[in-house]
Amino acid sequence: MKINFVEPDQPRSGAVAVGVWEEGVLTPAARRLDEATGGAIGRAVSSSRRFEGKKEELLPIVAPANLPLSRIVLAGLGKPESVDARMLQQLGGKLFAHLNGAGEEAATFAVEIGDRAAIGQDQAAAQLAFGAQLRSYRFDRYKTKQKPEQKPSLESLTVMTAGVAAAERAWQPLEKTAQAVSFARDLVSEPANVIYPETLAAEAQKLEKLGVKIGVLDEKRMHELGMNALLAVGQGSARPPRLVVMEWHGAKGARGADAKGPLAFVGKGVTFDTGGISIKPAAGMAEMKWDMAGAGVVIGLMRLLAARKAKVNAVGIAGLVENMPSGTALRPGDIVTSMSGQTIEVLNTDAEGRLVLADALWYCQDRFKPRLIVDLATLTGAVVVALGHHRAGLFANNDELAERLIEAGKATGEQVWRLPLDESYDREIDSDAADVKNIASGRAAGSIIGAQFVQRFVKDVPWAHLDIAGMAWSTKDAPIVPKGATAFGVRLLDRLVSAYYENE
Ligand code: BES
Ligand code: MN
Ligand code: ZN
Repeated sequence: MKINFVEPDQPRSGAVAVGVWEEGVLTPAARRLDEATGGAIGRAVSSSRRFEGKKEELLPIVAPANLPLSRIVLAGLGKPESVDARMLQQLGGKLFAHLNGAGEEAATFAVEIGDRAAIGQDQAAAQLAFGAQLRSYRFDRYKTKQKPEQKPSLESLTVMTAGVAAAERAWQPLEKTAQAVSFARDLVSEPANVIYPETLAAEAQKLEKLGVKIGVLDEKRMHELGMNALLAVGQGSARPPRLVVMEWHGAKGARGADAKGPLAFVGKGVTFDTGGISIKPAAGMAEMKWDMAGAGVVIGLMRLLAARKAKVNAVGIAGLVENMPSGTALRPGDIVTSMSGQTIEVLNTDAEGRLVLADALWYCQDRFKPRLIVDLATLTGAVVVALGHHRAGLFANNDELAERLIEAGKATGEQVWRLPLDESYDREIDSDAADVKNIASGRAAGSIIGAQFVQRFVKDVPWAHLDIAGMAWSTKDAPIVPKGATAFGVRLLDRLVSAYYENE
């Protein structure tokens, strides 16, 4: 969708959204339209039994009298003190869905916040556009026969705001964020016959254009490095594994940046998870095309940091494998030696993500000595049982990092909830035959057990693990996240970086 910002004026065509405060108080643009329509806006508000101007409420007025407009949508702003970036994004997303669903092709947001709210008008305009752009994402590349009413209609959005130059400046990083989110959503949405380790690595290589240094480790190199845990997961597949290493050096010259080491982000990239020999049931197995969401999000995040020239040094690592059953596949009971030297008894080949993370994390620490690590993985079904589709599981060995992720989650709406790590859980993965086993004996505390396993491969460095199994894919439209791939984590981790590690 094309987005542009213009100075306030009477809109002359298409659909127009105007703001209404709680208790039906009209904003200036709404008042102007009320006058031009002989009081139609005021009458609509007073005659509606539902619309009160509460935040994110919408009231459409179709073909308003005396005006060349197709519709006016009243957009509830709620109370001035509760207007913030999040609320405006959600409102922008809801307006997009409403207008697009109604078949409008061009729309104008004339939503004036004025100086009644804590957020400035220029920021408000940019955040409305951001929400609309995030909601407009679609993955329809493979639909060759869309009926006109199924096609997206809204293609052009004009945002009216005082201070166009400032709004455009505020929009710049948000536009880049929306682009990175769309890119990550595309990677996650693509089926496993299109996106597999080699092709996902090739997608990551596109970041070179933005100044990201990319390295791709092939099987031979990983073998030399002793990454036998990651390699074991991929050994049943015809698609060879890859490890992608992305470096963004944005803190050049900044005091102490090199001494502290880079921020590191590590993603699970299982491009398809059949479960391997511990094979999954047929029902729902197709979902496992998005078992590479952690890697997709790390790639999207690195693209965003580079695109907006973040003043930070960061490294992204994506462990890419396909988990298949075959004559060459890993067997239950096999013991493999990880890059760390620790031996792993693999009792269930479907607990494969942790094997990939084990070597990816070890390589990351060995090579980069990072100042902190955040890993993202669709690691366990158990985290969906615990937290559903509203929060990702957060595990951390460091309270400050955990708090920062929780705060970034609140600011972006990509929320996380901390679960415990503890010695007593750790005892459950002691193996009789090797140093560690990849599952515990029962199904209890499955997400914590997964996190404990991952922690065995973390040295003395602040580390957080995000289990995003419940968040990577959505079956319901939300205001700024249409159903499908969510790219959960791109906005969260970008916020973590910008709020705490840039311009220190
Ligand atoms: N990729 C799955 C986890 C998953 C499940 C993600 C559902 C998204 C939705 C992971 O590799 C897996 O299979 N985990 C097992 C672990 C078990 C064998 C200990 C699980 O959750 O059942
Ligand atoms: Mn699995
Ligand atoms: Zn998996």
